[in-house]
Amino acid sequence: MVPVSRLRWLLIVLVALSACSNLGVPSATLTPTVAPTPTATPSPTPEPAVDAFTMNQKLARTVNIGNALEAPTEGEWGVTIKDEYFPIIHEAGFTAVRLPVRWSAHALKEAPYTIDPAFFERVDHVVKQALSQGLTVIVNVHHYEEMALDAKGHQARFVAIWQQIAEHYKYYPNGLLFEPMNEPNGAVVASVWNKLLEATLPVIRSTNPTRNIVIGPADWNDLRGLDELVLPADDQHIIVTFHYYQPFQFTHQAAEWVQGSASWLGTEWKATSAEKQSVQYDFKIVATWAKQNHRPIFLGEFGAYSKADMDSRARWTSFIAREAEKQGFSWSHWEFCSGFGVYDPNNNKWIEPLLKALIPNSP
Ligand code: BGC
Repeated sequence: MVPVSRLRWLLIVLVALSACSNLGVPSATLTPTVAPTPTATPSPTPEPAVDAFTMNQKLARTVNIGNALEAPTEGEWGVTIKDEYFPIIHEAGFTAVRLPVRWSAHALKEAPYTIDPAFFERVDHVVKQALSQGLTVIVNVHHYEEMALDAKGHQARFVAIWQQIAEHYKYYPNGLLFEPMNEPNGAVVASVWNKLLEATLPVIRSTNPTRNIVIGPADWNDLRGLDELVLPADDQHIIVTFHYYQPFQFTHQAAEWVQGSASWLGTEWKATSAEKQSVQYDFKIVATWAKQNHRPIFLGEFGAYSKADMDSRARWTSFIAREAEKQGFSWSHWEFCSGFGVYDPNNNKWIEPLLKALIPNSP
């Protein structure tokens, strides 16, 4: 059988189509043991380092602010981040936000690959809004799609982009985390990804020696890639991530960017024993790997597209979140207010069944 993750790679068509998908949408807990980040103010005075396991507690209940800063330009995929979102997210009980960012669309194509200062300012603004609400923030590199086609040709630019991001945020509080790349895929196979990490991590570490960094395996951050992921053994500030969208035919039914997915429309998730066991089996693989490798785990993306029926979405979302928590994984729902979203930006209200599925005791 073709692995679903590979199927996903084969089926994904133009990102422009994914843009369309984003338009019609309204669409025994990990307790954070660390006080919320008290300040959003960058300071050259170093804070005490926070180890990855402790920091992972702060990612206990995270939401991805997707389809905004990782669109070619913000707003192009229907989401422009509003300052007011952060108090709303915090008050609902989320502890963190993951901020996908398409830096590659805002940096020079030739050396020295300078990132547009105006874009940095925009990201700074968003990061500060989140930090000021006590939310932990992950900034990643998202949709550097050229790398999937020619990883070697883009390596120098990739490293230079991270050199600039790391330098730029070196005085930010440790409530800001970095994630070098979302879902490495295509030409970024496991061996290439490991080499890329080997080139990039020392550059980040030279300015951010103890900032926590989120790293997932190749093959779209699929859990089955974990065994091939090579991490520096002496770096205790790494949180390992994976993404989970199984069963893919359920979570991606009628997703406009997945060819053939229209025929999956109507697929339900009923929480049968077989359905539940399949998730538990997968999560056990991750938990076993984590134990053997002494790394904390962050389920960085999971979600079901708005074309699925709401009862199934709520059941699946709740089951995934609770199972993750049972295994001690922190989690991040994909995503806030677009096609998979838990918040309806048109009516300024939470989509209650999904919010309650994620955070049962949300006020
Ligand atoms: C991608 C999104 C996509 C989501 C679900 C994310 O990693 O960046 O574009 O909508 O996965 O397929």
